[in-house]
Amino acid sequence: MTTSSYLWWQTGVIYQVYPRSFKDTTGSGVGDLWGVVEELDYLDQTLPVDAIWLSPFYPSPMADFGYDVADYTDVDPLFGDLEVFDELVERAHQRSIGVIVDLVPNHTSDRHPWFIESRSSRESLKRDWYIWAEPQLDGSPPNNWISVFGGSAWEWDEFTEQYYLHSFLKEQPDLNWRNPEVKKAMFDVVRFWLERGVDGFRVDVAHYIMKDPHFRDNPVDPERGRSIHRPMGDYDSQFHIHDSGHSDVHDIYREFRQVLDSYSDERPRVSIGEVHIFDWEEWVRYYGENLDELHMPFNFTLLNVPWDARAVRDAVDSLEAALPDGAWPNYVLGNHDESRLATRYGREAARVAAMLLLTLRGTPTLYYGDELGMTDVDIPADRQQDPWILDTAKMGRDPCRTPMQWSPKPNAGFAPPHVDQLWLPLAEDYETVNVQVQLKNPTSLLQLYRRLLTYRRRKPVLQRGAYRALDGVPPACFVYVRTDVGPSSDGWERLLVALNFSSQAQRICVDSWGAGSLSLSTHLDRQGPVDLGDLTLRPHEGIIVEVSDR
Ligand code: GLC
Repeated sequence: MTTSSYLWWQTGVIYQVYPRSFKDTTGSGVGDLWGVVEELDYLDQTLPVDAIWLSPFYPSPMADFGYDVADYTDVDPLFGDLEVFDELVERAHQRSIGVIVDLVPNHTSDRHPWFIESRSSRESLKRDWYIWAEPQLDGSPPNNWISVFGGSAWEWDEFTEQYYLHSFLKEQPDLNWRNPEVKKAMFDVVRFWLERGVDGFRVDVAHYIMKDPHFRDNPVDPERGRSIHRPMGDYDSQFHIHDSGHSDVHDIYREFRQVLDSYSDERPRVSIGEVHIFDWEEWVRYYGENLDELHMPFNFTLLNVPWDARAVRDAVDSLEAALPDGAWPNYVLGNHDESRLATRYGREAARVAAMLLLTLRGTPTLYYGDELGMTDVDIPADRQQDPWILDTAKMGRDPCRTPMQWSPKPNAGFAPPHVDQLWLPLAEDYETVNVQVQLKNPTSLLQLYRRLLTYRRRKPVLQRGAYRALDGVPPACFVYVRTDVGPSSDGWERLLVALNFSSQAQRICVDSWGAGSLSLSTHLDRQGPVDLGDLTLRPHEGIIVEVSDR
């Protein structure tokens, strides 16, 4: 790959905005798109990032907080309107920030006019836009498929006396992607947003859209929960081989990519798939055999490994080994479905995790508030919102979706001070953990993110250099080198990243790498020449060293 062939989404950093929780300008207690417009300087000047991914802002009854779309080509009045969306895109582009929107192709809301029509009669012209099936002889659902949120994935419709499939809530009926009209309608949606200037899509549960055409039962998993993702109740009792990920899915993404490519001449657009598949061979197929499907399936591996140097290194090495030539890696450490990074690892390790995420080879995606060390918030029972918790105890995602902490003011600067109730309660620590306070503290986590992001922008070696892990380091450390053609005497630029995963100091000797200059420590308190033959990392410290010779 020549230097010029690197695209913005490969060299850049993506920041996920969960619009409900970012900034409320109207006093509804819920964030909105004007709030995102207001904070573009934060995203551009304070952090800075290269693109934002906006979780759904489409009209929705909010059964799954926007992932139940009732109209794919409009904005829910709670969040704004198309005019503010256009303004957001324009102003983001003025700052060279790309805008990635969420595409939810697997299901609509049950209030979407397509479903209302489909449900109206067996003869409806849109009947086959969704997945309807007869009961078994005893009246039970057509097969044993289980919804991700628990219980049968089939819902009985009294009126037309058939079951419909919903892989998530019953309010989220699955579309039938085997019907060419559905594909056409959804690709029209894709064109609608591309024409409005969006830079790409994050495709919701991308692997779910094609299921076994014969609706065969999923085999039972005798060791429930053995799968490597977090425990998911009922859902773990099966191997999900027939209800999602059918290989016909790849034809769809090849066509989807062609639509995107037809808009990419001037400005390359990107597609990122939410693909919860943890078998590399199966996962890499979403790039396409000829890299002609999704630009990147999200890589969630690090969310499922413990904070342990060996486990993290193995996850990175195995991804690097699995990637086909030319396929671009990416890493995720948090999103609106997962426990917060600072809760999973602790606040000290969260600093090392920031350095990890922003120095690995591939596109990092940051989740709003992780740059402050926001933690999961305990939500009292009477304030819980996420429908998932109602069915499966302890599984709600509210704790990681609480309002962004901008300042120590009432409502944390998230909403006007007079607003009595925010859609989710604020974290108790908002008076100390917020943007305003952390900007005043030269060693805060936010300052670390700023330094890492600006450093990464200046260093092409971090954006595109090769990655290699080093052996012979203490077991509590993960040490790797990023290498690229560069200005040094031998024509190479090398950065060494050394991360201490433990609460004890660790001594590292990488003699063969000679001398270097420490450019950034996660403690933000040291810089300058270091001897790579005798380097001590303090507890929970990560460093970046520019290697001058070897
Ligand atoms: C994805 C979203 C999640 C949503 C689900 C159903 O996993 O990230 O928030 O509940 O899809 O749309």
